[in-house]
Amino acid sequence: MADARERRGLEPSESALILGASGGVGHAALQLADRIGAEVYATTSADWKAERAGEWAASVIDYTEVPFDERVVELTDGRGVDLVADHVGEATWQQSIDSLATGGRMVICGATSGADPDIDIRSVYQRHRRILGTPMGNRRDFRAVGRLIARGEVAPVIDRVLPLERVAEGPPGDREPRGVRQGRRHAGGVTAPRWGVQPTEAFSGVL
Ligand SMILES: NC(=O)c1ccc[n+]([C@@H]2O[C@H](COP(=O)([O-])OP(=O)(O)OC[C@H]3O[C@@H](n4cnc5c(N)ncnc54)[C@H](OP(=O)(O)O)[C@@H]3O)[C@@H](O)[C@H]2O)c1
Repeated sequence: MADARERRGLEPSESALILGASGGVGHAALQLADRIGAEVYATTSADWKAERAGEWAASVIDYTEVPFDERVVELTDGRGVDLVADHVGEATWQQSIDSLATGGRMVICGATSGADPDIDIRSVYQRHRRILGTPMGNRRDFRAVGRLIARGEVAPVIDRVLPLERVAEGPPGDREPRGVRQGRRHAGGVTAPRWGVQPTEAFSGVL
């Protein structure tokens, strides 16, 4: 999101769609977009997650119930949004592109569901849309976000803290073979104890 801003990214007068609102990246993007003052839409996969995301988003779409691009187009009176933050990848690219307004941009920074999207490239160039990659921010971005966290203006949401050897497993009593993250049973970051400190504490050294 910081990188997106640097490239004349999100403005207060614009709208943004944040995917995977319950994930670590999604939570951060939601809070930053909301703080910028943009009109924020979000997607997630369960009611309890939607309730949390609703703290920062004007509308939260459950993409397991309805194709999210159709809902975004409906909610924006046919226009689409100015920016989509997509870290999900393969499973969502086409719908993300189709959620964009003419001239809108999709900022990508992850590929949770896979890295080989099957898209119709005409849906990009015919509507003057852009796809922007952002592997990571720079040191200045890091300090800027660190300051926001230290001032309590954005707050990383920690879903749970697990011992390092259990990070790939489910929570106690849950025998689902996939881990917490793959099973999408979290809302916020999943961290190991070493990093399970108060966010303000974690950033005190970089301010
Ligand atoms: N470039 C960078 O600087 C950077 C930094 C950190 C992470 N990443 C990358 O960003 C991605 C996300 O990281 P994260 O830490 O936020 O992971 P995460 O906490 O596991 O969140 C991923 C979220 O994506 C959503 N999702 C998963 N599969 C989906 C599907 N098939 N369709 C729609 N939504 C789906 C789920 O949220 P809902 O249930 O809410 O939909 C899930 O919780 C990863 O690929 C990671 O490698 C990149």
